[in-house]
Amino acid sequence: MRNIIHLESVDSTNNYLRKLAAEGCPHGQFVVAQTQTAGRGRMGRSFVSQANTGIYMSWLLRPNCSPEDILPITCMTAVAVCDAIYKFCSVRPDIKWVNDLIINNRKVCGILTEMSLLGSKISYVIVGIGINVNNCQKDFPVELQDIATSLFIETGKHLSTSILTDILIEELEKLGNCLITSSPISYYLQEYRRQNIIPGNHIRIITPNGDKLAYAQEINNDFSLRVCYPDGNTENISSYEVSVRKT
Ligand code: BTN
Repeated sequence: MRNIIHLESVDSTNNYLRKLAAEGCPHGQFVVAQTQTAGRGRMGRSFVSQANTGIYMSWLLRPNCSPEDILPITCMTAVAVCDAIYKFCSVRPDIKWVNDLIINNRKVCGILTEMSLLGSKISYVIVGIGINVNNCQKDFPVELQDIATSLFIETGKHLSTSILTDILIEELEKLGNCLITSSPISYYLQEYRRQNIIPGNHIRIITPNGDKLAYAQEINNDFSLRVCYPDGNTENISSYEVSVRKT
């Protein structure tokens, strides 16, 4: 049986689920809200979460593996969300490493994964997913209008967030089963590579200590990105944000 909590409004579904997790809520719980008053994004940013225009969802996992082994969950979730969106409206987003989903070079979905450890073991992982569904361009704050999009903008159709939520939960449960049974992750890796727009491009890596320029070579088997710096040194990076350089 599915465990889904539906909320009209919440500060952040990740925050809400974190409290439940601390009280012992089991693996597999979903929280879905119609709106968030303080939706959070990566790198301390906020996530615009207007009422009934998008999907704001969090998913609780209690995997029996090491913190290192669960790191690809965000990338695998990106593939699951792409699959759900494609099944729902026949549009397949691109993936921008690490975990932004892009249509026509604009962001349609973001994923925020947060982990809590007990000693060296995972206590829980929360995967938060925000999808822009029925937003018009003017619904986004001015600073996002050139970089954000929605499924409505891309398809010209008003779409049912509840149907997409159901399809998404099915895809996430498939992914969850794959993790529990330690099934090979090859499908997710193959799709993550196939749909990723970053390898083969000159990129800017945005780090807390400033930007670095590099060439993105390939996605490694652990979903990290192999980059080559102008001095010829290479590195595998697992976090940060990257953008493609036009020149
Ligand atoms: C990003 O692109 O920076 C990640 C955005 C993640 C947004 C989702 S919406 C549901 C969940 N609750 C939050 O507060 N954030 C995530």
